[in-house]
Amino acid sequence: MPDETAYRAYPAEQREAIYRVIAERRDVRRGFLPEPIPPGILQKILHAAHQAPSVGFSQPWDFIVITDRERRERIAALARARRDEYAAELPAARAKKFDALKIESILDTPVNIVVTCDRTRGGRHTLGRQTQPRTADFSSVLAVSNLWLAARAEGLGIGWVSFFGEDELATELGLPAHIQVIAYLCVGYVTEFGDEPELAVSGWARRRPVAWAVHAEKYGHRGLSGEETVNQLEEVIASIAPPDETAMTAARERQDRMTKPRGSLGELEDVSVRLAGLAGECPPPLPEPACVAVFAGDHGVHAQQVTPWPQEVTAQMVANFLAGGAVVNAFAAQVGAEVTVVDVGVAADLDAVPGLLPRKIGRGTADFTAGPAMTRDQAVAALTAGIEVARDLVAAGNQCLLTGDMGIANTTASAALICAFTGADPAAATGRGTGIDAATFARKVDVVCRGLALHRPDAGDPVGVLAAFGGFEHAAIAGFILGAAALRVPVILDGVIAGAAALAAVALAPDAVAACFAGHRSAEPGHAIALGHLGLRPMVDLGLRLGEGTGAVLALPLVQSAARALRDVATFDSAGVAEKSP
Ligand SMILES: Cc1cc2nc3c(=O)[nH]c(=O)nc-3n(C[C@H](O)[C@H](O)[C@H](O)COP(=O)(O)O)c2cc1C
Repeated sequence: MPDETAYRAYPAEQREAIYRVIAERRDVRRGFLPEPIPPGILQKILHAAHQAPSVGFSQPWDFIVITDRERRERIAALARARRDEYAAELPAARAKKFDALKIESILDTPVNIVVTCDRTRGGRHTLGRQTQPRTADFSSVLAVSNLWLAARAEGLGIGWVSFFGEDELATELGLPAHIQVIAYLCVGYVTEFGDEPELAVSGWARRRPVAWAVHAEKYGHRGLSGEETVNQLEEVIASIAPPDETAMTAARERQDRMTKPRGSLGELEDVSVRLAGLAGECPPPLPEPACVAVFAGDHGVHAQQVTPWPQEVTAQMVANFLAGGAVVNAFAAQVGAEVTVVDVGVAADLDAVPGLLPRKIGRGTADFTAGPAMTRDQAVAALTAGIEVARDLVAAGNQCLLTGDMGIANTTASAALICAFTGADPAAATGRGTGIDAATFARKVDVVCRGLALHRPDAGDPVGVLAAFGGFEHAAIAGFILGAAALRVPVILDGVIAGAAALAAVALAPDAVAACFAGHRSAEPGHAIALGHLGLRPMVDLGLRLGEGTGAVLALPLVQSAARALRDVATFDSAGVAEKSP
């Protein structure tokens, strides 16, 4: 190891200071003091900003320093209007959280600084910008970063406000058409700097571990440099632990002391105990906000005429989910949950739209009556995609995940998976899906039988089983469940597709079942078999057979109520209510 004077490193104390300012820089929204900023200090931090690196040394930034109250009032009104617009689009549970957030301090700070970018500065031959025009903007962002760090060292807080339409702010600032706004910064002295981002403290989002962001050599080989790069799937499986017995005991004891007859909440008491065991604390956190991830994929086995629906319906329904027009959207709106669609294998090109996560492993699986539905590598890739979606949704602040699915012919793949994992008879595990006639049903059972005969699945090799019968969405949902279990976040399962996927997840990591809550029991007969095998009791039983996540979404308020009861209901001792005589 080099000593501190080697390689021209700064002395240890100065290095410490650099890392300290990086770690302690905060986006500040509260606690600003009215004290003016001395001109000398303002100059120093602007000088630091001006020393930022820039593409071709083009220095594309300018800094507009605003102190005029009336101008700031007009700008604050613009931000308020955009804030209201954003709030109106949020799912109810998110909107509630957003309401409590402060997102700008335009009037609370003595100085606002706008950092701009001139993408034309230096003419056409600016070194590096020709191939990557966006590098002009990046350069101005680096100036913001320098400003932010220098300000922190001077004890000045900065809050970045991005709630503006580009044009409206440009007009207010009299910007020429070739100058873009990069950042609107509110600057002032503060009483204190938080240890963590305000959005983390408020539970809006979580910090992702750095190991999730570092890849060795190629994208996907995640792991921190200097540490062994591990296979993500193996790492997640290894990190799934059994529920916390102490928290479960505490939850059971609390249920018994709550102002109600013992056991009177029936199954919901178990749900609350399981939530406590999963969280490792009693009472457990409220499973809110919640997000349903609808994993979509197509199936080669569709060619066997197991459904009257054309394959294109998968992509069409994805468009419907994204437009907000499907049943899952209506139910999710009712319970305040978010809907995200994940393309893991739709056999069509999907437009990039907000709410769609493009994670395509392949354009549909292969026909499992002719060969494996997918390769083992594809199965692992789909599992990993599911793990990452779970991580990202939890990092985005969700405290409960729900499974959804879309894939024409996916009840056929589900039946085969359920038979493979449970040993069930195909005639008993296969259902009528969206509704099929007797001839199609007979064909569907035969397809499952032929698949099983061809692949001779080994339930001890879950990846092999997923690869044999596939459904990219099955494999991804299995990964999603594992990801949730590793983060100890509850995952509410929808119907038969989720049930089949959960069998795979639990075969890979038996303790993952502790994170699973069966939202409902589907009309598909294979689902009851899967739930029986998993030892899960469904919360809703309404004969639903739609998929999309609808049954899981309906169960969300039940899971939330179970947690809330444990948190909010008074105990006999605290409420002074007499208990029944023994
Ligand atoms: C490009 C960009 C835009 C941002 N816009 C806003 C904003 O409009 N309102 C706000 O309150 N914070 C905004 N922030 C601040 C982030 O919320 C903040 O950086 C993040 O939560 C991490 O917290 P930290 O900066 O304290 O580490 C923005 C940050 C960046 C980098």
